[in-house]
Amino acid sequence: MARKKIALIGAGNIGGQLAYLIASRELGDVVLLDIPAKEGVAKGKALDIMQNGGVDDFDCKIVGTGDWKDAEGADLLIITAGIPRKPGQDREDLIGVNLPIIRNVAENAKKHTPNAMAIVVANPLDAMVYEFKKVTGWPRNRVMGMAGILDTSRFSFFLAEAAEVSVKDVRTTVLGGHGDQMVPLISYSTINGIPITEFLPKETIDSIVARTRKGGGEIVKLMGTSAWFAPAAAAIQMATAIFNDSKRVLPCAAFLEGEYGYEGIFMGVPVVLGKDGVEKVVEIPLSPEEKEALAKSAAAVKSVVEICDRT
Ligand code: LAC
Repeated sequence: MARKKIALIGAGNIGGQLAYLIASRELGDVVLLDIPAKEGVAKGKALDIMQNGGVDDFDCKIVGTGDWKDAEGADLLIITAGIPRKPGQDREDLIGVNLPIIRNVAENAKKHTPNAMAIVVANPLDAMVYEFKKVTGWPRNRVMGMAGILDTSRFSFFLAEAAEVSVKDVRTTVLGGHGDQMVPLISYSTINGIPITEFLPKETIDSIVARTRKGGGEIVKLMGTSAWFAPAAAAIQMATAIFNDSKRVLPCAAFLEGEYGYEGIFMGVPVVLGKDGVEKVVEIPLSPEEKEALAKSAAAVKSVVEICDRT
């Protein structure tokens, strides 16, 4: 029985952490791919992680490479290739530099890994995953974006910290695009079933919603570049749900075909993740305010997608 093969497209900070998590959890073998100019970095990270197998007790083959041929036969691609944000930049500011990169990745994916599933992580997320699907022509179940789990994990952490409860007991979700207009859903936020409003006053919740919306930017400001631990963990949660056919219900960027009233764009919604990827988009009732907030987020996503379509 063959081990799973996971091709990580981009050997930067998230790519390296993804490789480490895959190896340490023995999810499969890894191809860590970057552009030829960064091949040394990919090879170096691959060696560094493999040399850790004897200490952390795992078997995993990691190939660092600059050649797409090495990705052939991959079951899953996780795409982080692109330039991360610098302080002061919005994710949308990256479209000019990252659009040619995702197009190149998509062309190569189509040619070398035509049967793979793809999780896109690069920013601006909702536009990158849209362009990837457009260029590859792959069906919507096989192409998805990682953002909702990350945004939700930030929201959960802030809520847990303020309520002084374990983050493990926070249940919540964030819908919409992976930008400052994202929609953290207070009405679906509970501490193990108890409404969050029983734990925190409205002003505290509102300030946490605002902080969540700019959660990625807060880290960029501190470090001078984007986060990698939580983004990598979120993508691995998606990969694990797919490999184990767990049917987990997780917020992911999915291609909408009329759900929530939107068509032809990717946006964060709850989906069922199993062996066929996005097996179902789950529609939940929203209040008029939540619908309005989602419309604003969709408008922000569409404005970036339009740049993809006319460039
Ligand atoms: C973030 C990047 C990965 O939100 O989009 O940290």
